[in-house]
Amino acid sequence: MTQPFPNNFLWGVATSAFQIEGRIENDMTDWERQGRFRTEQYDPVAGDTADHWRRWEDDFELLKQLGVNSYRFSVEWARIEPTPGQFNQRALDQYSRMIDRLLEKGITPMLTLHHFTHPTWFHERSPWHRSDAPESFMPFVQVVTEKLLDRVPLVVTINEPLVWLLAAYGEGKFPPGYKDLQLMMVALQRMLEAHRLAYDHIKSRRADTQVGIAHNFIVFKRARLNHLFDRHLKPLIHRFYNIMIPEAFQTNRLLYQFPLVLAYDEEIELDNRIDFWGINYYYRMHVRFRFNLERPFDVMFIPRSGEGQSDLGWEIYPKGLRKICKWLEFTGKPLYITENGIAAGDDQLRAEFLKKHLDSLRKAIDDGYPVRGYYHWSFLDNYEWLEGTRAKFGLYHVDFENDYRRSLKPSGALYREYIRDATTEDPAGS
Ligand code: BGC
Repeated sequence: MTQPFPNNFLWGVATSAFQIEGRIENDMTDWERQGRFRTEQYDPVAGDTADHWRRWEDDFELLKQLGVNSYRFSVEWARIEPTPGQFNQRALDQYSRMIDRLLEKGITPMLTLHHFTHPTWFHERSPWHRSDAPESFMPFVQVVTEKLLDRVPLVVTINEPLVWLLAAYGEGKFPPGYKDLQLMMVALQRMLEAHRLAYDHIKSRRADTQVGIAHNFIVFKRARLNHLFDRHLKPLIHRFYNIMIPEAFQTNRLLYQFPLVLAYDEEIELDNRIDFWGINYYYRMHVRFRFNLERPFDVMFIPRSGEGQSDLGWEIYPKGLRKICKWLEFTGKPLYITENGIAAGDDQLRAEFLKKHLDSLRKAIDDGYPVRGYYHWSFLDNYEWLEGTRAKFGLYHVDFENDYRRSLKPSGALYREYIRDATTEDPAGS
């Protein structure tokens, strides 16, 4: 029997524009054309995903049928500002109609401004490590604020800054394709500065809008329990990945030291300008020290929890959700689970994953953590960055071979039931 959740809890699903819309020209498609992006043989064409840009009206009906009361999605910068300073009115009009339709259906929009992708011109002119990057981002933010945010109560400025930076500046897998950790920290600083500018602008126009960041969190564990170096390694990696960014909002310093690998310490004027933390949570990883200066540690999946692993090898660890809420207690901010999901061809696995994570979330709420909403990743089977459409994250199946036909999976039906049970009026009104 599902316990009721607090009144006004937001039940949602999450997507990003590039992963579902189709027909987008941006830095990713540009890279693909140059043969620099995802060369593995199984990758489909990046632009050809769930065709949502044409099917959004039917899709929103599916949202309604799913029983969610909120929807997290992103707007595609490259679609809205295809050339610097020139805005595509038709794209803005469509996003505006989308927001209206969600509201008509009683679905609260949560809008993400930056979810991994950029117009190609941005990388040619001012990639994130350059000092003019935040300013290049702002005209887009201003237009979106003006045309769309009057009806949007929740805004995520940047999705998973660190995940994107590690791919784009750490491993060179995403454009602009650097492998330079020091430069990555500079780019992180600029992204956080861009958040601050966006935050100030949005608040100056729409004081009630709640503005946050969706951060990816990983639970780390020592690979070898009795190994001294693994024991020292774990907190170093945890701090870098999970704590450094939220902490910078309180200390106004972006600070990280990893002996012989990385040293960064710069002031950053954030002054706690953030209204909520978005938690994107998928898995636990294990860390192992190596006597190797070039690469002093490994971070890997060892499915030890007994809960199984996803099709991508990710260890399922539902308790992590509650742990993360605890880590974020020091911020004093409301929390939203802005992403949580699993790549699974076996839908039974997804159903179990979902149920266990919601139960863990329920415990976190009972413990008093201020969680205001949960967004399952994802609404539809979609385009996964390095794996293409073979990674199945959707609560709705998409038949990519047959006119993108959608059908609800049993895990989607389970979510619908869970929401129904959990939103039964709580007489105590808690
Ligand atoms: C990202 C999504 C991605 C998901 C699953 C998150 O890192 O925000 O875009 O599809 O995880 O990998």
